[in-house]
Amino acid sequence: MKKTVLNVLFLIVLNAFSLQVALAQKKSIVQKVDSVLKLMTLDEKIGQLNQYNDDWTATVPLTIDSDKVSQIQNGKVGSLLNCMGTERTRKWQNIAMQSRLKIPLLFGQDVIHGYKTTFPIPLAESCSWDLEAIELSARISATEASASGINWTFAPMVDIARDPRWGRVMEGAGEDTYLASKIAYARVKGFQGSKLGEINSIMACAKHFAAYGAAIGGRDYNSVDMSDRLLWETYLPPFKATLDAGVATFMTSFNDINGVPSTGNKYLLRGILKDKWGFEGFVVSDWGSVGEMINHGTVKNGYEAALSSITAGCDMDMESRSYKNNLAQLVKDGKVPIALIDDAVKRILKKKFELGLFDNPFKFCDPEREKKELNNPDHPIAALDVARKSIVLLKNQNHLLPLSKNIKTIAFIGPLVKVVNQNKGFWDVDVPGIDSSYVVSQWEGLQKKVGNKTKLLYAKGCSIEGDNKDGFAEAVNIAKQADVVILSIGERRDMTGEAKSRSNINIPGVQEELLKALLTTGKPIVVLINAGRPLVFNYTADNATAILYTWWMGSEAGNAIADVLFGDYNPSAKLSISFPLSVGQIPIYYSHFNTGRPAVSDTNRFYNSSYNDLSIYPKFEFGYGLSYTTFQYSNLQMSKKKMHFNDQIEVSVTISNTGKYDGEEIVQLYLRDIVGSIARPVKELKDFKKIKLQAEQSETIKFIIDKEKLSFYNQQLQWVAEPGDFDLMIGASSRDIRLKDSFELVE
Ligand code: NOJ
Repeated sequence: MKKTVLNVLFLIVLNAFSLQVALAQKKSIVQKVDSVLKLMTLDEKIGQLNQYNDDWTATVPLTIDSDKVSQIQNGKVGSLLNCMGTERTRKWQNIAMQSRLKIPLLFGQDVIHGYKTTFPIPLAESCSWDLEAIELSARISATEASASGINWTFAPMVDIARDPRWGRVMEGAGEDTYLASKIAYARVKGFQGSKLGEINSIMACAKHFAAYGAAIGGRDYNSVDMSDRLLWETYLPPFKATLDAGVATFMTSFNDINGVPSTGNKYLLRGILKDKWGFEGFVVSDWGSVGEMINHGTVKNGYEAALSSITAGCDMDMESRSYKNNLAQLVKDGKVPIALIDDAVKRILKKKFELGLFDNPFKFCDPEREKKELNNPDHPIAALDVARKSIVLLKNQNHLLPLSKNIKTIAFIGPLVKVVNQNKGFWDVDVPGIDSSYVVSQWEGLQKKVGNKTKLLYAKGCSIEGDNKDGFAEAVNIAKQADVVILSIGERRDMTGEAKSRSNINIPGVQEELLKALLTTGKPIVVLINAGRPLVFNYTADNATAILYTWWMGSEAGNAIADVLFGDYNPSAKLSISFPLSVGQIPIYYSHFNTGRPAVSDTNRFYNSSYNDLSIYPKFEFGYGLSYTTFQYSNLQMSKKKMHFNDQIEVSVTISNTGKYDGEEIVQLYLRDIVGSIARPVKELKDFKKIKLQAEQSETIKFIIDKEKLSFYNQQLQWVAEPGDFDLMIGASSRDIRLKDSFELVE
């Protein structure tokens, strides 16, 4: 009896709270957040800062919380990650709805390059330089994920990466700050759509803040030692671009910078992000990185880790439990002012309101919509489009490509011809309850393309790794019967990605030896290189007849590759990262300083800044990529040769398609500041245009040079332009400069 009365009382109180929460929703978001905050106990506040992994993806007993359900019921969890599908997310959200204040959970997921539809890996997509296609790829990923319970992706990764040994190079947009910033902006716009609150918008997360890509030696999680100037000039701008695009969240990085772990880095998180840049969203740690500060040796225990991290400005603790276990005590001990906790909670609640979760916590859990969007026929079309645009033609001797559709016999050889899921790349998502095996293999793509007209022969030849050459004889035998050989080789998809750094980035195993064996047949050979990073493949580069760098193309891999092989799409991609000649050349990037002893050519490199035993050039440079047609650059014009600070120069250049095929060209504008108060790079990309030209068509394109494009961080870290002379270079790559002029900036 007593129990029933208590229950009734409890329900009245609960309803009163619910009523207050409901009333709060009518006010502006800031007021709503404040009125919810007022109702919260300290424990509930700390709960909002706590993020757990769901259990079901774990193959080992990952969680240490057998009482996860009751923790959610008690308001001790603000978000779950790795929880997908409308059924599963609804289940957890229902549990959250049993909590006193019914604050909805956020569901975060690594939707990096697609959800059910897998798009090319981000590094590949960045080679398309096609901002619209990249935005669409993120838009579709968000549409699918949001239909499947997810409201937050841990993407885009906007870390500049100049070391292909680093496995996560596959997840970013390459080496260049300008290109990567444009892509970062497009990706955020794609994920978040017109505004949070739309049914197909999910929160984006700019990661990993900051400089994670500069891990010493390319070893994942390693320390970063970096000057402030390099940080500001090269590594921070892509993050700033995500902010300009309205990114909802940031993630800290695992590394320390100059000895200070990012997750406890007050200079980065508060100083730069929240204070200087005015970021109003929230910051989540990387997985366990709050607790990992103990390993870094900057804190003694979880108590100190939580103190360091919340003080620095990290609002949510992903999986380390340091906040959950220590923040209450830190508040009691007077070490953490409640205002700090409130600020973090408010930031998180605000996003929950903006997403519309307080209005409808099950907004993203509609199974009908899930079914519809995960089978939306427009999605593979977009995946095919961006995949074709991401394949880089590196070599095309004797115009072997495009292949004629009348070839009698093709031998399709290699360990990657018939694989299916490999094509998805590292961060594919295993969507629960859905047949996620939808991927067009290279074999299937080619078969569909040639139909019955061409005889297609197959041999695996060898495995990706290992030294077994037993399959060589069969491969050589079918190559002899063919008119053309296509050889598909490369890495396994899980050789790049998180924790996948490698000291040897050659094509693994005996795959290049297989090429050597096939070359003895004298047949023309097209090599498809599948990889998540720039590999070193000098033998292939020097001996194959044609090479397509196909990265990992995702769901539509086979179709995209077949379209490019047969000229149904004329390749237009250009490398967003330099390909080294050897590991010893790393890091190699085009926008280096001149140095006091510049090595300007391979014939004049001694006593200059170079290796005695290596060319000064990469194997393939930033911005490089061929087409089946040729483009001529002419008629460079500048509206003036002297520019005042508040002036602009209009640059125009005519591009002509001088070949037989329609095609697209990515025209690149580089600048060099000849004399600065500090050294300036030998060239910097400052603009580009991707244009489509029919065979024999010409077009004049325009660029604008303004003060912003001429500015840099000086020694005092001020963003300034300095008067003086500049070189203007228009190129088809960072090395293939077709037209050159100069101008002067005057005060
Ligand atoms: C660790 C990775 O560094 C990060 O990028 C990812 O979002 C989290 N794990 C969650 O999976």
